[in-house]
Amino acid sequence: MPLQVKRLLIVFVLFIGIMLGLKYFLTPESWREYGAYRGNALTEISDKEAKYVQTETCAMCHDSIAELKTQGAHKSIQCEICHGPGYKHIDDENIDMNIPDDNQFCMRCHSKNAASPQSIIKQIDAVEHSEGEECINCHNPHQPWL
Ligand code: HEC
Ligand code: HEC
Ligand code: HEC
Ligand code: HEC
Repeated sequence: MPLQVKRLLIVFVLFIGIMLGLKYFLTPESWREYGAYRGNALTEISDKEAKYVQTETCAMCHDSIAELKTQGAHKSIQCEICHGPGYKHIDDENIDMNIPDDNQFCMRCHSKNAASPQSIIKQIDAVEHSEGEECINCHNPHQPWL
């Protein structure tokens, strides 16, 4: 075997050796336990505290608002979509919830958007429609229409 081929072979073997070594040390323990991902990720994720508690929990204390909401166009929207996660607030009501206080917030869902069907969410042009006035001056967020 010519000398240059021997040298090339040595380099090759070294390279493969280093790669196998790296694979051994860097692969997480539970990799491929259930398929092409880390098995331990399942317990890590299920151990996390749930941050959203759902409208039924909010309704235990805010029954009149919850009741109002079931009668209006926003009945399908969870409280926490607008007020943020409630897991701390339900244990201690002094921990404030987020109160959205600008028109931009409503426009996340209601702005004119050709890609979204008008028949599902009514869309408006904010400037034309409200002329800078706050949306909640005219619409109750919990029951935008009577
Ligand atoms: C255990 C009873 C209880 C539960 C459950 C509860 N709240 Fe409250 N919440 C209160 C009380 C009492 C206040 C008034 C506290 C204050 O403003 O001093 C309040 C105030 C609020 C406020 C306005 C005041 C602010 O600045 O935070 C919002 C918004 C609110 N709650 C939303 C929610 C939402 C959304 C849920 C469900 C995720 C929820 N609450 C669940 C008792 C509760
Ligand atoms: C579409 C967004 C939206 C949803 C959904 C929503 N809220 Fe609100 N909420 C608001 C806004 C905006 C305000 C501030 C209203 C104002 O300043 O007049 C508010 C104010 C409040 C307040 C404090 C003022 C008050 O009226 O007593 C409470 C408490 C509250 N919301 C609870 C709830 C609960 C409970 C739910 C679910 C049953 C809910 N909200 C669902 C947007 C929403
Ligand atoms: C998370 C998305 C979302 C947000 C945020 C939101 N809405 Fe809505 N809104 C809806 C959906 C869904 C409906 C029911 C479908 C419809 O009627 O357009 C609705 C319905 C309405 C309607 C009745 C439209 C009709 O004539 O049928 C009004 C008015 C309205 N929203 C105003 C507001 C205002 C004001 C805010 C801000 C406080 C707001 N919305 C925030 C999703 C949203
Ligand atoms: C000066 C009062 C006023 C203000 C401010 C206002 N609205 Fe309205 N809104 C109305 C009236 C009245 C209607 C019904 C007549 C119409 O469709 O224009 C309406 C209708 C709607 C509709 C249903 C449109 C449809 O096609 O049926 C939506 C969605 C809406 N408003 C969202 C908003 C949002 C979001 C804001 C804040 C950017 C806002 N409104 C500000 C009075 C107001």
